[in-house]
Amino acid sequence: MKSLTLIFLMSATLLFVGCAAQMSVQTDTTVTVNELRCEYHTDPLGIDIASPRLSWIIESAGRNYSQSAYQVLVATTPEKLSRGHGDLWDSGKVKSNSSNQIIYEGRKLQSNMCCNWKVRVWDNKGNVSSWSEQARWTMGLLNATDWKAKWIGDGLVRKEKVGKERKNGRTVDKFERRYLPVTYLRKEFAVSKPIRRAYIYATALGLYELYINGERAGDDYFTPGWTEYQKRIYYRCYDVAGLVRSNGVNVIGATVGDGWYIMLHNMIHAGRQTGLLAQLHIEFADGTTEIIGTDPSWKMTTDGPVLSSDIYNGEHYDARKELTGWAIAGFEDSNWKPAVPSEDVNAILSAHPGAPIQKVMEIKPVEVTEPKPGVFVFNMGQNFSGWARLKVKGDAGIKVTLRFAEMLNPDGTVYTENLRSAKVTDSYILKGLGEEIWEPRFTYHGFQYVEVTGYPGKPDADAITGVVVYSNSQADGAFECSNPMLNKLYSNIVWGQRSNYFETPTDCPQRDERLGWTGDAQVFIRTGTYNMDVAAFFTSWLITLNDNQYQDGQYPVIAPIGDPGSSPGWSDAAIICPWVIYQVYGDTRILQTHYEQMNQWIEYMTKNSSNLLRKCWGFGDWLNLDAKETPKEVINTAYFAYSTSLMAKIATVLGRNEDAKKYEQLFTDIKKAFNDAYVDANAKVMGDTQTAYLLALSFNLLPKEKRALAAEHLIERLKEKNWHLSTGFLGVSLLLPTLTELGRLDIAYQLLTNETYPSWLYSVTQGATTVWERWNSYTKEKGFGDAGMNSFNHYAYGSAGQWMFSTVAGIDTDGPGFRKITIRPRPGGNLTFVKASYKSVNGDIAAHWRIEGDKLKLDVTIPANTTATIYIPAKEAESVTESGIKAAQAQGLTFLRVEQGNAVFTAGSGQYKFESQI
Ligand code: BGC
Repeated sequence: MKSLTLIFLMSATLLFVGCAAQMSVQTDTTVTVNELRCEYHTDPLGIDIASPRLSWIIESAGRNYSQSAYQVLVATTPEKLSRGHGDLWDSGKVKSNSSNQIIYEGRKLQSNMCCNWKVRVWDNKGNVSSWSEQARWTMGLLNATDWKAKWIGDGLVRKEKVGKERKNGRTVDKFERRYLPVTYLRKEFAVSKPIRRAYIYATALGLYELYINGERAGDDYFTPGWTEYQKRIYYRCYDVAGLVRSNGVNVIGATVGDGWYIMLHNMIHAGRQTGLLAQLHIEFADGTTEIIGTDPSWKMTTDGPVLSSDIYNGEHYDARKELTGWAIAGFEDSNWKPAVPSEDVNAILSAHPGAPIQKVMEIKPVEVTEPKPGVFVFNMGQNFSGWARLKVKGDAGIKVTLRFAEMLNPDGTVYTENLRSAKVTDSYILKGLGEEIWEPRFTYHGFQYVEVTGYPGKPDADAITGVVVYSNSQADGAFECSNPMLNKLYSNIVWGQRSNYFETPTDCPQRDERLGWTGDAQVFIRTGTYNMDVAAFFTSWLITLNDNQYQDGQYPVIAPIGDPGSSPGWSDAAIICPWVIYQVYGDTRILQTHYEQMNQWIEYMTKNSSNLLRKCWGFGDWLNLDAKETPKEVINTAYFAYSTSLMAKIATVLGRNEDAKKYEQLFTDIKKAFNDAYVDANAKVMGDTQTAYLLALSFNLLPKEKRALAAEHLIERLKEKNWHLSTGFLGVSLLLPTLTELGRLDIAYQLLTNETYPSWLYSVTQGATTVWERWNSYTKEKGFGDAGMNSFNHYAYGSAGQWMFSTVAGIDTDGPGFRKITIRPRPGGNLTFVKASYKSVNGDIAAHWRIEGDKLKLDVTIPANTTATIYIPAKEAESVTESGIKAAQAQGLTFLRVEQGNAVFTAGSGQYKFESQI
């Protein structure tokens, strides 16, 4: 209801803008196009997708910006691009309001090609922005025949078959692990003319580090990643033009450690020998090219300082054996041997699409104690994944040993029982040449405490630095509110993610497990997307999960490695996770890529059900607290229905309308079977547990007339526990959203803010710095829970993070990819303010609400090229103002309706400051 004057003023502005556009020489300087990315990465190297997807973020000073068209130029050289010559692709002016998931449609891209690009955009009045800064991506090796290099290694057997054993009901080969030194490999080669470009491609069976003339290539660790090695091995690409000398002798050096490939958990598809495959592509200024690849002409030794390395057990280093200068020219390598061909691998080599594992931050200890003479314990103040950097000075031959733990025993020594068989021990033998600084490379630990023994003298606090290492995705979310306990919970959730998004979404980072458990991944993924940009991370892991699918259509419960059989709620990650990635990032390709395989899972479930009831084995509502468990068949059938309902939506998105109808029908049939078998006339769901009702309500399995009754049963189940939860991994992620949906925000807040056991904040009151595996992994009264399964860094219960963003702060997507945004803060739980932000694929979103007396103030940021529906809690819609004027009259806002005590507006991009009477 804009006033006439305002409409007049606005049209005058439009007219003016229109004239400016007609003169059309002026570009719109209030708008910039930034953060160009290709396949979710900034300037990625070695993309192996024939038609990569591009994205950008628009920043606009004013309100209501929307893109009406774009133009992308892609050129083989930066010079051509500067001249505006897109020799690979000139998209022309494309009418579109999309700024991400833009598919490259230019000339066919070739292996090892460099693609430089820029973009400009038009708004809906025809004004054009300046060109963005230049960005680039390079193409990887697109054909198997591009690989000229040969796999090489040291020929040593690191895992020996020693018979057979029964595992998960199957007879499998039994292996014994041999702890052998890390392999060093080197190759000298001469260059005698100027270099234009140089890229090196590398991969390993095991983990590698690569050096050119002594300089480390790249800053990522645990390369090439973790895949289902029998099917696929990822490779990486590095731009090393700055490292290769144009005139003289060069050296490529590599170290290869055992990593996940040899790790003993990997018994089903066991690797036995490590190996390296690398090739350097040099393009000279005169246009000629040369490839230097691994082959038996490389030299190798295992007589180096890294005595052994293992993901679970740690790394052992003897500095006296350092090979100084081994990766630079002229090193005396006459006692090195020729490299030998490594074991045969017949896997697809593909470019790593995921997030790189990097050293992201460093932590200083908060306390050093000496619980026993000569035993020093460094408290890092935070549980995390990574390692400790050691600083030490002493005589050659002194051995310092580091052990890692999440908790302390009552006597102040480190508590390691819960690490099970993982030794989690590093050691360092001094070379005795002054101050020595060391950190491992091929192992990691999940820890808060470092025990140091053998240290010469008493260590200073700076003897240990915590190095935080994880799959480094852009941090997206921030959350802060007036309840410090909730802030700590949020911090614990984020640290749980940092510790466990480690190449695969792992269950925990400390014990002899650290595996890509699918169930944990699916319950947490939506929270994960709020905290970090996890599109690339999941693109990578979902490839692995699909590589792990069994021929009969079953998805495993762990990926990589797989595990015989599937479990409902776990295996369904293969459908749930791509759906969430689509929801958050608008990514239809991920749905397309895995569609056929997802369909096979539905077919498997259909075949392996009795009249659509899934009476099969499963993990159930893992770690739930109910005396009577939710019956597995209820959970299993509910997940079958849920995955089918998602497939109907996915088929619709992909335009497969026949399939969509088929899945909708199947969903209806499963729903009917579920009701006939498990729901009685009073809407009691078999099992009568919190989780049974949560599944039925959240997955839309009940007829309309039974929903209200079932909701009452759910509420009774909570009430009888004195408003406490009893759910396990599966139920917990549904709890708060379902209660909100049922209009019981009050109970949801109560559950979230409870401090008594069992609750989210209980572990916070017990001093947790990460989310625990169990609601009571530790209590001040009773001490530690069962060490057989007791991780202090398990993110599954952290799935409440989603609700904190979507409902407490009120930031959510409305449809795919945050093109339409919902801002709907729902004050409650005695909170007086919440300040949250989230970086979406379209740019920054923020919501900051606070209650001041009888006023609610709400500051909102909506990114350019999106629209939002904003709900402002208000006694009366009339009372709502924006930047001091009636909200309905403010630029960019349109009043829509009053809904459940909220004044609802649509908004274009921009920053808004609302106030209302409440
Ligand atoms: C893991 C879990 C996993 C579970 C499956 C555990 O050992 O740590 O997080 O989901 O097994 O039951």
